Amino acid sequence: MSKQKILVTGGAGYIGAHTAVALLQAGFKPVIIDDLSKSDETLLKGIKKLTGVKPDFYKGSCASKPFVKNVFKKEKNIAGVIHFAAFKSVSESVTQPIKYYRNNIDSLLTLLEVMPYFGVGDIIFSSSCTVYGQPDAIPVNEDAPFKKAESPYGATKQICEYILEDAKKQGFRSVALRYFNPIGAHSSALIGELPIDVPANLVPYITQTAIGKREKLTVFGNDYDTPDGTCLRDFIHVMDLADAHLSAWKYLQQQTKESRCDVFNVGTGNGTSVLELIKEFERVTKQKLNYSIGARREGDVVKTYADPARAFDKLKWKPAHTLGDALLHAWNWEKKLAKR
Ligand code: WQD
Repeated sequence: MSKQKILVTGGAGYIGAHTAVALLQAGFKPVIIDDLSKSDETLLKGIKKLTGVKPDFYKGSCASKPFVKNVFKKEKNIAGVIHFAAFKSVSESVTQPIKYYRNNIDSLLTLLEVMPYFGVGDIIFSSSCTVYGQPDAIPVNEDAPFKKAESPYGATKQICEYILEDAKKQGFRSVALRYFNPIGAHSSALIGELPIDVPANLVPYITQTAIGKREKLTVFGNDYDTPDGTCLRDFIHVMDLADAHLSAWKYLQQQTKESRCDVFNVGTGNGTSVLELIKEFERVTKQKLNYSIGARREGDVVKTYADPARAFDKLKWKPAHTLGDALLHAWNWEKKLAKR
């Protein structure tokens, strides 16, 4: 039987590349499009080393209708789309909101305009826990209301979810996965996170500090209303997140043909503080981390972690890795990068 072909937008990026590996290992045929504006071909080469397959790759923007149409024309029988391609820096979105609204929303709209020409109606969307803002109740479940977005990045994810909900009227079947904090790397250390410039996110900043690329980690505030004063997050191994996309695709194929828009939290359900994560990093890697406590970072949500029950139940998905696994894999990847 020919392998089911799935278009993976943003597949040269962190979560996209890990999901492409999971798809290949499950017998699917991912076709990757990426404009390489926030990545390069490093992870595509890593996918080849890891799986023996270099997926078909088209360089270009999802926001370009001619480009997207051409890919669908060339790649016959695309069964559906997993849509990662988006800008994702919260801080950059604050200083360049128009670029974020244009790119993140146009990319989804272009896909939804082109897909029907080729009889494609199924899409898995990369959403984010940022749609909740600071939840009133934690763990947060999918019925929690959208609070005012903390950033234009978060607003683009909220708007895209509204678009998918309304797109049911035009026959689309979608699943939006609300990621919590993706961390770590594939256990092979052949693919991982490739931050451009100074990492904004906690774990790559930690591994770059531990390897000596950064002088010191600053913990952004320890005077919050949490057990140790630092923010709480739900850190999930990137391969568990990748597997959640596979489960979401299989779930969608098992549904009736009628249009739908389902939403799932993808997190572990465990809240971990910044200091607890640092301690776990030091424990599993036996590296002493140089850090100090600094001022709060504007816009930070104080505490959030997932109620993942709906994904456990409907997607038959559960995280298989521990926080320690993710931190050790992140460290192994950082050491591999240092040898490049
Ligand atoms: C985590 C915690 C910081 C860096 C991000 C994305 C969001 C979503 C989830 C995709 C916070 C603290 C960080 C540092 C620190 N991703 N921190 N020192 O902000 O929770 O959300 O991942 O959808 O879009 O923005 O992640 O890793 O930046 O911060 O103390 O040098 O670590 O204050 O409490 P965040 P993060």
